[in-house]
Amino acid sequence: MLQRLFLFLHLLRSLIDYPLRQLFRWRRKGLQIINEDKASLYNHLAEPSRSQAEAAASRLREAYHLEPLYSTSTRDNYQENLYYLAMLESAFSTVSPQFPEKLNAADIGPSHWFYVQALYAALKWWRCPAEREVTLTGFERDAYRIYSDLYSRYDHALAHIGRLQGVTYIPVAFKVQPASYHVVTQFFPFIFLSDHLKWGLPPAMFNPSALLVAAWLSIKPGGLLIIVNQGKAEHTAQLEHLRRANIPVQAAFVFNSPLYHYNLPRFITIACREHG
Ligand SMILES: C[S@@+](CC[C@H](N)C(=O)[O-])C[C@H]1O[C@@H](n2cnc3c(N)ncnc32)[C@H](O)[C@@H]1O
Repeated sequence: MLQRLFLFLHLLRSLIDYPLRQLFRWRRKGLQIINEDKASLYNHLAEPSRSQAEAAASRLREAYHLEPLYSTSTRDNYQENLYYLAMLESAFSTVSPQFPEKLNAADIGPSHWFYVQALYAALKWWRCPAEREVTLTGFERDAYRIYSDLYSRYDHALAHIGRLQGVTYIPVAFKVQPASYHVVTQFFPFIFLSDHLKWGLPPAMFNPSALLVAAWLSIKPGGLLIIVNQGKAEHTAQLEHLRRANIPVQAAFVFNSPLYHYNLPRFITIACREHG
């Protein structure tokens, strides 16, 4: 009962403050990420997880050229990027895609894109020691949400993008762009209306199946759709959306790694478009 009341309040609030955010489009210059020391990143873990995490972190740092991120990030953000990178590496290794030399990718719903460095590094360096040319675009429907430091989600996203070449954050909802991308990612799309409302989006904008189909149609022949969900219930509902949309699932599995801790397990789903 109390939960329903809270959802109703979220709903009412979203009808007022989402349009206001879109009207005022809050942006502020000057946001800088303060680097933190990365010594003993996994000391809080017990063995053997600690050694596994340290070995994975040092391998990923070298293989994916993470030095710039290592020296300009908070500890927590660096660890979370390592986790996202490990998820993407695991997804790619599962289906072994043939990426072109120039790769075009889109991420739907990046929020403040705290993981953009991992996503970019995975696309650029996965099985490509010579470095791939990557164009990466993030489409965010609610880019002007204001955080407690009075910078917007957009400001935070740009700070996380930093000096990455070919990366753009677009503050609009994703729309279908037929056969445009080699890779489309969706990290934690809203599958349940309650999450959509809690994040402050108006109810009329909730349409996970339409967004899924838009993502799928935007993938080039031979390209990949990678979706990450949290918790078994969300993953199961996601699979049902894919089934109803006739999107063939190539792989679906739970991803475990000591690199970062979440309360709910992460599930990866991969769909590959047929070659034309
Ligand atoms: C649960 S958050 C996931 C954030 C982030 N991807 C992550 O890994 O934590 C979902 C995000 O999708 C955004 N979103 C929802 N519908 C969207 C749409 N149609 N186009 C673009 N972004 C959308 C929301 O505003 C929110 O920032």
